[in-house]
Amino acid sequence: MLDLTGKNALVTGIANNRSIAWGISQQLSKAGANIGVTYLPDEKGRMEKKVRDLTEPLNPSLFLPCNVQNDDQVTATFDAVKESWGRLDILIHCLAFANRDDLTGDFSDTSRQGFQTALEISAYSLVKLAQQAKALMTEGGSIVTLTYLGGVRVVPNYNVMGIAKAALEMNVRYLAAELGPGNIRVNGISAGPIRTLASSAVGGILDMIHHVEEVAPLRRTVTQAEVGNAATFLCSDLASGVTGQILYVDSGYEIMGM
Ligand SMILES: NC(=O)c1ccc[n+]([C@@H]2O[C@H](COP(=O)([O-])OP(=O)(O)OC[C@H]3O[C@@H](n4cnc5c(N)ncnc54)[C@H](O)[C@@H]3O)[C@@H](O)[C@H]2O)c1
Repeated sequence: MLDLTGKNALVTGIANNRSIAWGISQQLSKAGANIGVTYLPDEKGRMEKKVRDLTEPLNPSLFLPCNVQNDDQVTATFDAVKESWGRLDILIHCLAFANRDDLTGDFSDTSRQGFQTALEISAYSLVKLAQQAKALMTEGGSIVTLTYLGGVRVVPNYNVMGIAKAALEMNVRYLAAELGPGNIRVNGISAGPIRTLASSAVGGILDMIHHVEEVAPLRRTVTQAEVGNAATFLCSDLASGVTGQILYVDSGYEIMGM
């Protein structure tokens, strides 16, 4: 039932070999899924090359630029999915952004522009991608996004990203309710802190990781592959009755009071 052979999976958010999306795409591929990759394009084409080289072993059948702030690129992405695959089964939303200045210091200093940017890229993008994906998920499907405990509890320095994750987690529930009748399931994974490009922008990330290593029931933080395994489960028939949920993959840290 964990076999994803014949399933078409579009993965967003791979930036480098530390990316959680890279861990997820490797596990989806191991389970047999046909992988499509999107990357955030830059003027010099650096990201394209880096992500292309990294993902080559998975033999992605689609490789597309997709800045979620650019509606034309989002539309072009799903047009390409329709043309090449005809049908989409799995969408992995694994991206977020906030200005570095807004990920340290006082939350009340967040600027209007910083707030809008964080919410647009990190939360609205799931709505935008789901809007396009639902028409292609003609045989049902699974949408998985990545969130963090800072969306439900106050975590020092996480600041505006916590607000974005709170919005993202509500997006999961509203989308699950809307898309459920079409057998499209929508879930989130709340991952424990992992060293990545995005998390390095959060002030004190290493302290957060050390704290988890001391306090979490498993006395360690999690790996990208463990998050990838949970995502693969959520995308498989093993999770056919699961939607609208946030699954904690955090070594159990979330249950602790002290
Ligand atoms: N690393 C952690 O500790 C941790 C914990 C819980 C949740 N998460 C979440 O996991 C997800 C992936 O982050 P990561 O830690 O793997 O870091 P990462 O830096 O590897 O991935 C973030 C991705 O977002 C992409 N991105 C940023 N702006 C974009 C835009 N406008 N359009 C398209 N893509 C854009 C980047 O290109 C990058 O690939 C994020 O949602 C993050 O909040 C991370």
